[in-house]
Amino acid sequence: MPFREHRKLFPITAKKIYLNHASISPLSSRVTDILEWHINERMFGMIDVYPESDKIRDKARALMADLLNTSAEEIAFTSNTSDGLNLLANGIDWREGDEIILTDYEFPANIYPFLNQERKGVKIVYVPNRDGEIHIEDILERINSNTRLLSISFVEFGNGFKNDLKTIGQICKEHNIIFSVDGIQGLGAIPLDVKDCQIDFLSNGGHKWLMGPMGVGIIYINKNLFNKLNPAYAGWLSVNNAWDFYDYKLDFLPDAGRFEYGTANYMGIAGFSASLGLLLEIGIENIRDHLLNIGGLLVEGLTSAGMIFCGSANKKHWSGIFSFSGDKIEELHSSLVEKDIVCALRAGKMRFAPHFYNTKEEIEEVIQQVKIFYQNA
Ligand SMILES: Cc1ncc(COP(=O)(O)O)c(C=O)c1O
Repeated sequence: MPFREHRKLFPITAKKIYLNHASISPLSSRVTDILEWHINERMFGMIDVYPESDKIRDKARALMADLLNTSAEEIAFTSNTSDGLNLLANGIDWREGDEIILTDYEFPANIYPFLNQERKGVKIVYVPNRDGEIHIEDILERINSNTRLLSISFVEFGNGFKNDLKTIGQICKEHNIIFSVDGIQGLGAIPLDVKDCQIDFLSNGGHKWLMGPMGVGIIYINKNLFNKLNPAYAGWLSVNNAWDFYDYKLDFLPDAGRFEYGTANYMGIAGFSASLGLLLEIGIENIRDHLLNIGGLLVEGLTSAGMIFCGSANKKHWSGIFSFSGDKIEELHSSLVEKDIVCALRAGKMRFAPHFYNTKEEIEEVIQQVKIFYQNA
């Protein structure tokens, strides 16, 4: 077990085999320590935690920039993935007839902000999935001179299909299309270099693979987009001289900070800074290698138990999510829950989503329990 010491930071491991990080992560004690610090300071300590919290936010911003291989000026904090995608969708000066490419395999968070633009005369064009896979040629076929934006998940929530963001980014660049990514099912589990993939905009909530509190997220916004995207919201903190209260000049901050328009969720961001620190300490490449390794064991073990793997046959599209179909899936799910094995049922499929602290032994236990269930079924 490569991360034995870090596993101790997750008390849930004493009680459950937790394999549901694609829904929500358990908090580590690193996160809860800083949350407690914040609560105590607000109750009995400095009370006005603005200055300290700003320092922590700067640290979290730098960590996030590191994780994405970008600079802090291109990162802003949001409330969740949906918040960020709405900032994008509502910030573009849409023209009648503009087209947005989405896929028909997305979580609705990456659909509705764009559907909401139809009233401005924008057309949504869906790329159909082929048995849970998104094919590049199907994207290419839907691009025309009206295509203005493409938005896709880093990793598809249903079956863990990891999209080829580098190729899609290249295509978007060649066709002058704004490239937007919903990162939430991949970031924290799989490395992502936003520059290498030529991503213009990325939105990501923090409570899944990034292991932070709920209600905190980030956007990455390429600086080339700063002046093309109208801030959908303007607030007292969006501008240069924010603390000069009666100087009503709407001169937006020169960086992504212009999207942080009011008092932040500082407590959440503090927790987020601790979880980001932990993930970077371990290394995202190491996390990815571990997940592919134990995921491979799961695929081998559960297919030999009679289940059908719903991910790609091509491992280059694998992520931290491993989904399976099989007989009596709801009963199987209930029987695993009874054994304190936590996984999710999504659209009739069993979704396992381990993280770096899960062990090979835990995976073997899951396989064993599935085999016992089918032997007795
Ligand atoms: C792909 C994807 N995007 C977004 C979300 C969540 O969006 P938000 O962070 O706005 O709650 C989920 C899951 O809850 C998801 O699977």
